[in-house]
Amino acid sequence: MTTPFIIAIDGPAAAGKGTLSRQIAQAYGFHHLDTGLTYRATAKALLDAGLPLDDEAVASRMAAEIDLASLDRQVLADHQIGEAASRIAVMPSVRRALVEAQQAFAQKPPGAVLDGRDIGTVVCPGAKVKLYVTASPEVRAGRRYDEILANGGTADFQAVFADVCKRDERDMGRADSPLKPASDAHLLDTSEMGIEAAFRAAKAIIDAALIK
Ligand code: DC
Repeated sequence: MTTPFIIAIDGPAAAGKGTLSRQIAQAYGFHHLDTGLTYRATAKALLDAGLPLDDEAVASRMAAEIDLASLDRQVLADHQIGEAASRIAVMPSVRRALVEAQQAFAQKPPGAVLDGRDIGTVVCPGAKVKLYVTASPEVRAGRRYDEILANGGTADFQAVFADVCKRDERDMGRADSPLKPASDAHLLDTSEMGIEAAFRAAKAIIDAALIK
């Protein structure tokens, strides 16, 4: 039996890894899992049930119930849900439950693209390709800001920027599985790169790994 080809994509919020991951999965005919949605779904389930976000036992029971097949990006996109997700993501037993489900997903043949914060370091340390997609906080806040306006909303750039910085701090500063590039990850800084250029750069790295 051939082992599935796993591509791990990590990076901070709004670096462009979601779009890139979907494009890569489509180009190679691989399965795709946005692992942020698993944290978001857990957070939403707690919020919907009126349960506290700071009770690890309750949160980890919710995490164990999450069905990866029914994650809806649209429904989970809400800013409040992202904030709540970032808070429960610091809890080790929540992470254990979700990582277990993510690792099972990664085994789907012929291959899978997983994106998140700890894929190359914790979830799939043996991934054939690891990418760390980043961009400066100013650029990421600018993208988020433009996206809100494009969707007909209103926003204050300084507030969006402060939010991006706060999220980085929480994701990079937590004790369990902090966001950081794996030692063998390829760095892709998209600050001055469009999505097409980022895709071409990623494709060159993946193609080289496929023929190995
Ligand atoms: O990528 P996102 O904004 O949907 O992620 C929401 C939160 O989930 C993020 O702030 C941190 C957490 N997360 C995580 O801790 N590990 C992952 N692999 C993915 C997301």
